[in-house]
Amino acid sequence: MKALVLSGGSGTRLRPLTHTMAKQLVPVANKPVIVHCLEAVREIGVTDVGVVVGAHGDEIAELLGSGRSLGVDLRFIRQEAPLGLAHCVITAAEFLGDDDFVMLLGDNVFAGGLVSEAERFRRERPDALIVTKKVEDPRNFGVALTDAEGAVLSLVEKPRDPVSDLAVTGAYFFTPAIHRATEDLSPSGRGELEITDAIARMVDDGLRVVASDYTDYWADTGTVRDLLDCNRVLLGRAATGVAGDVGADTEVSGRVLVEPGARVRGSRLHGPVAIASGSVVEDSDVGPDVTVGPGSRVSNTSVSDTILLEGASVSGIGRIHASVVGRRARITVGRGTVGRLTVGDDTIVEVSS
Ligand code: TTP
Repeated sequence: MKALVLSGGSGTRLRPLTHTMAKQLVPVANKPVIVHCLEAVREIGVTDVGVVVGAHGDEIAELLGSGRSLGVDLRFIRQEAPLGLAHCVITAAEFLGDDDFVMLLGDNVFAGGLVSEAERFRRERPDALIVTKKVEDPRNFGVALTDAEGAVLSLVEKPRDPVSDLAVTGAYFFTPAIHRATEDLSPSGRGELEITDAIARMVDDGLRVVASDYTDYWADTGTVRDLLDCNRVLLGRAATGVAGDVGADTEVSGRVLVEPGARVRGSRLHGPVAIASGSVVEDSDVGPDVTVGPGSRVSNTSVSDTILLEGASVSGIGRIHASVVGRRARITVGRGTVGRLTVGDDTIVEVSS
């Protein structure tokens, strides 16, 4: 079996970050989202991995390299434009050949891995297996209707009146039968070749498509809120340990990871917290649910439920919460009585009154 990890896309919901970086590289629990994805692939014993990339492909390739450090062998496949998930399968057809494959959305996190789903696919070998999850409001997802045995009867993308509460997540197991189903698809209303349309075609053609209900935590990290929720859940399960330089004047409680090369002074770290190498925390309260990216700085500030990306800096600003601070962004207190902002396109700034 091969794997196809989709890491192109437009990422409009995560602007402004995605103007300059791939959303799959945002760190949650101090690992880029796509690394969590590749770890799940490795865990099911698949090492031959195609990564579909778009505009930020070079940066993704630079970070992941050959994949050897993650125990996988990566091939990067460029998609000319974000024309949909089925278009990714078409673009990767040569790499996929006649093999079965697992397709994962590179911005999705399956916190409990996908081992039992992979085992079921290998054991039963249906034409396709989709991983579903019960959600309260399925209207923003592909929605599956299944029979009592989990065989898919119908699939609709973002229905106005959903026929079930089973959302299609970002993990799919396919036999090569998917390739015929992606032939001659028409673009949907949003102009994309939809994978749900291809799978619905398999169902219509009488092929066996089954749904496996995911019971552990699943996140689509496509929005800031989902990204922060995912960060919270993964930090709650991540490895802990203080290998960095944490002064005796610092209080540490709960699940805390301080990587070697990080420096903490005069602060309180309330886990779950992960502080990456090269960062500095001083005179601050950090946590819960905070990822401090590599080379970033927190000074005289209380930070909770937040991700700071590489080289970000927050200093003397009282309290920040539920925030994502982009790479090399600096937030500080000005000397005068008015605020001064240099804010990029599509940025959201909520100042406390
Ligand atoms: P989405 O989050 O559905 O789409 P998007 O990345 O364009 O984001 P937004 O809706 O905010 O504009 O994509 C799911 C995953 O699939 C994500 O990792 C990006 C990837 N993808 C591709 O690689 N190629 C594509 O053509 C599309 C649509 C998505």
